[in-house]
Amino acid sequence: MPTIVKIFPTLNMWAEAAAAEFCNIVEAAVEASGTASVALSGGQTPVKVYKKLSQSPWIQTVPWDKINWFWVDERWVPAEHEESNFGLAWKQLLSQVPVSPNQIFPIPTEAAGPEQAAVEYEKVLRKHISVTEKGSFDLVLLGMGTDGHTASLFPGSLLLAERQRWVSPATAPTGIKQRVTLTLPLLNSAKNQLVLVNGAEKKDLIKQLLYSGENNPTLPAGRLKCTGQTFWLLDAAAAGV
Ligand code: 6PG
Repeated sequence: MPTIVKIFPTLNMWAEAAAAEFCNIVEAAVEASGTASVALSGGQTPVKVYKKLSQSPWIQTVPWDKINWFWVDERWVPAEHEESNFGLAWKQLLSQVPVSPNQIFPIPTEAAGPEQAAVEYEKVLRKHISVTEKGSFDLVLLGMGTDGHTASLFPGSLLLAERQRWVSPATAPTGIKQRVTLTLPLLNSAKNQLVLVNGAEKKDLIKQLLYSGENNPTLPAGRLKCTGQTFWLLDAAAAGV
């Protein structure tokens, strides 16, 4: 299916629209199969969307008790660390809405190391997520860094060529360098991807990725194209309009 790009005039409208899209996708999945699987990303971009989701009307409308929560990547820090992707989603969303611990599947940063965590998490995913011709996760939420990375897939990484593993250790060039990430075959097997981008500092990359017609294959975010529908949700600043 073609990639759909939606642009919103203000950051608030962007966050509202992302919350609405999230809710529509999850409701449709629950209607079709009784449950929904969602993989969350890290970074600051989703926080505004989490805040919307944890307030009215979304707190009453999202079928919280039917969603299983996973992560697209994790920084190698304990859950209570301020850089933890799980910690961020817990604080900003999951602790604010009616979900129970058995619906939450964080990347295990208590494992002996990133390699062991990746192996363990792949087992967890293979138990809960099946990849069929219709796709895998009902929804994968992604962001994009100012270097074009997505999840913990960075430009130039050999991981961009991974075909077998669903989960792998990864190295970031800056910040918390040790990471664990889902790989492109799994991310792109999703039924829906919502790529959330805002802010003027990403507008040149957006132009290059979405509007130049020269999709640069070294930019990981440009490799996002899922089995179902990939939506890019941009605010006006990121879209450069
Ligand atoms: C991570 C992310 C990463 C993130 C981008 C965007 O753990 O770092 O999952 O891929 O989505 O870096 O980050 P910002 O939203 O903070 O710009």
